[in-house]
Amino acid sequence: MNNTIKNRWRISRTIAAITIAICGISPAANAEQLSDAQIEQKIDQLLNKMTLTEKIGQLQLRDWGMYGADKTDQLKQDIREGKIGGFLNVNFDAVAGNTIDDLQRVAVEESPNGIPLINGQDVIHGYKTIFPIPLGQAASWNPSIVKQGARIAAEEATSEGIRWTFAPMIDISRNPRWGRIAESLGEDPYLTSVLGVAMVEGFQTDDPTRRDAMAASAKHFIGYGAAEAGRDYNAAYIPETTLRDIYLPPFKAAVDANLLTIMSSYNTLNDIPATANKKMLKDVLRGEWKFNGFVVSDWNAVLEMLPHGFAKDAKHAAELTANGGVDFEMHTTTFEEHLPQIIKEGKFTLAELDQAVRNILRVKYKLGLHTNPYTREGRENIILSESNLAAARQAARESFVLLKNDNNALPLKKNQTVALIGPLANVPHEQLGTWIYNGDKKDSHPFLPAIEATLKDAGKVIYIPTLKNSRDTDTSNFKAAIKAAKKADVILFIGGEESILTGEGHSRGRIDLPGAQHALVDALAKTNKPLVTVIMAGRPLALGNVLEHSDAIMMAWHPGTMAGPALADVLFGDYGPQGKLPLTWPVDVGQTPIYYNRMATGRPATDDNYTRMEDIEQGVFQHVPGNSSNHLDLGHLPQYPFGFGLTYSSFKYSDIKLSTNKIALGSTLTSTATITNTGKVTATETVQLYVQDIVGSVTRPIRELKGFKKVSLKPGESKTVSFTLHTDALAFHNPDMQLVTEPGDFNLWIAAHAQTGLAAKFEVTEK
Ligand code: NOJ
Repeated sequence: MNNTIKNRWRISRTIAAITIAICGISPAANAEQLSDAQIEQKIDQLLNKMTLTEKIGQLQLRDWGMYGADKTDQLKQDIREGKIGGFLNVNFDAVAGNTIDDLQRVAVEESPNGIPLINGQDVIHGYKTIFPIPLGQAASWNPSIVKQGARIAAEEATSEGIRWTFAPMIDISRNPRWGRIAESLGEDPYLTSVLGVAMVEGFQTDDPTRRDAMAASAKHFIGYGAAEAGRDYNAAYIPETTLRDIYLPPFKAAVDANLLTIMSSYNTLNDIPATANKKMLKDVLRGEWKFNGFVVSDWNAVLEMLPHGFAKDAKHAAELTANGGVDFEMHTTTFEEHLPQIIKEGKFTLAELDQAVRNILRVKYKLGLHTNPYTREGRENIILSESNLAAARQAARESFVLLKNDNNALPLKKNQTVALIGPLANVPHEQLGTWIYNGDKKDSHPFLPAIEATLKDAGKVIYIPTLKNSRDTDTSNFKAAIKAAKKADVILFIGGEESILTGEGHSRGRIDLPGAQHALVDALAKTNKPLVTVIMAGRPLALGNVLEHSDAIMMAWHPGTMAGPALADVLFGDYGPQGKLPLTWPVDVGQTPIYYNRMATGRPATDDNYTRMEDIEQGVFQHVPGNSSNHLDLGHLPQYPFGFGLTYSSFKYSDIKLSTNKIALGSTLTSTATITNTGKVTATETVQLYVQDIVGSVTRPIRELKGFKKVSLKPGESKTVSFTLHTDALAFHNPDMQLVTEPGDFNLWIAAHAQTGLAAKFEVTEK
């Protein structure tokens, strides 16, 4: 190792140790922030010294599992030789006695140029304090709680040495069959952008050199959520206008928020694998957006271009990937094995190699790894702290969406006898949701003890789980459930899906409640007792008879560590529900993919212009006035629209006003409406702003979300909510792929959800 560099790292480490000793655990301690120019200069110096092996080594993101306990020496040797840029998903126990910091020490002190490793992990919705699944967090429509969740996850994860997360997942998800919808922020580009940026800010902070900050990785670039038929990894076909107006905006927003890394996706996009998609990774990401972080491939995705039928062998895959715009190869080692030869053959230049290395080194410098390589040392244990658990409880409360509440079945009373029935009432593991590397069921607070605690003074709970799990078809325990139900004042059914039924590689063709849950609900309904249903699931489910028989339905997603107390808070009315759907909830699977911001079609359906199955039964061939776009058996409307969610109160929307009915391009319109709490309890409403560009040079969605605001109102109280809208927010991509706002007429709604609202019109004129 070059002496100057060795000394530099030594000095840094000594300063770090002294600082920790003096300052204790300050996460920001000892961070050296470099200007962009200083970073580039340092990289130039390094590039001048690095060998080809070291440069290619920087492009290899190794999977910890490749080594294992018995190969520790080999692992250290590879680091020592500069063959590794970083690790993912480190299992602390796997490599006997070695922590991330121990391996970092080998990189910093023993590798030729002392370049630190970057260690990444899927810290998706919490590290050990698990927050609701991202789809649940999205239902809060609350960027600050989402940001706080990411911040806490980062504080916990960095305290164990992880400085890079593979989140946020900002794939637009329009298909509930797709298992990864659970990990998404829903179907809307605006909501996903706002919440995705909140996550980036929470993970990275505005000073990523802090020892408790992590680099975020927006994923999956691009089109992964559009997998055909919702089958994970399937091909995606997205027209360029839709790509640019729907799928790309959340990534652009994240890049503009100083996002440090991006993960390319597994799928093919319009027949080109995303892993080697030059147009997307080079022209759009680097060219148009000027992204200067690094791009990492997804796990094994480079070699998956062989079964895709795009690369003929590993060497070809390496060539396509390197030229396609990926910098960091995750898990596979085709760069290490083949880039030297590919470079020799002139199929990838040394300048291009330097550029990829530069992208990775830049992120390492931006994270301050040059002065803070050891992020575990001296850190206070904040994992699962009281305040972290309180934040997770609050995030869960805000994620619940009240879908139905007839006869004021909710909130429950604390002096009642509650028959608690269903497979998911006491599921410490399942409540945590998909993607929990570090979450542990032993830290979970499930619902059963929470409801027992709530009812212990004046009420009573009779708990009959009835089905072993959500997939169980054994009905032999139904009798016991019915007996309990008969003795109770109210039945609380908690069903849905375990976490394993969503997530990566876990898509479903049917989206009903699995197992014998529908039959159980039929049986419970026969008791004629009030029935309150809580759905715990990673996707919206086709409710069928559950909807018909339930007096109230609460969508709880997978709420995380604090699921139990949070659910008790909301079901018993200590905290009012306020979540709104971040997606359109289908009646049945046949309606999917489904999303509110669709195009109208030439024959838009209304309630009275389409033929129903009943018409056919009665011999009516075609409903007057003709055919329209619908399903004979499912109609034209979803079960619940995007943005929908009830509270324990009710609201009146009145008095919509626009600052003007004509705005010139480049100016701003203000719209206001009065929202009144017409119910009996204080409640929070999420007021939404939608627009429709009535005529465009390409067809435009029937509605697009352009803003939202939360307003908390006491009974009888009114507040004016106002939105400002710049004409730039109305822009879309025309057939020539120019981003334009076209003059013309627009509809505008201030609304409680995507299928309602106070309407107004305005015109955009030339400047
Ligand atoms: C595959 C997944 O698609 C991706 O989201 C994840 O970050 C990587 N594996 C690493 O675990």
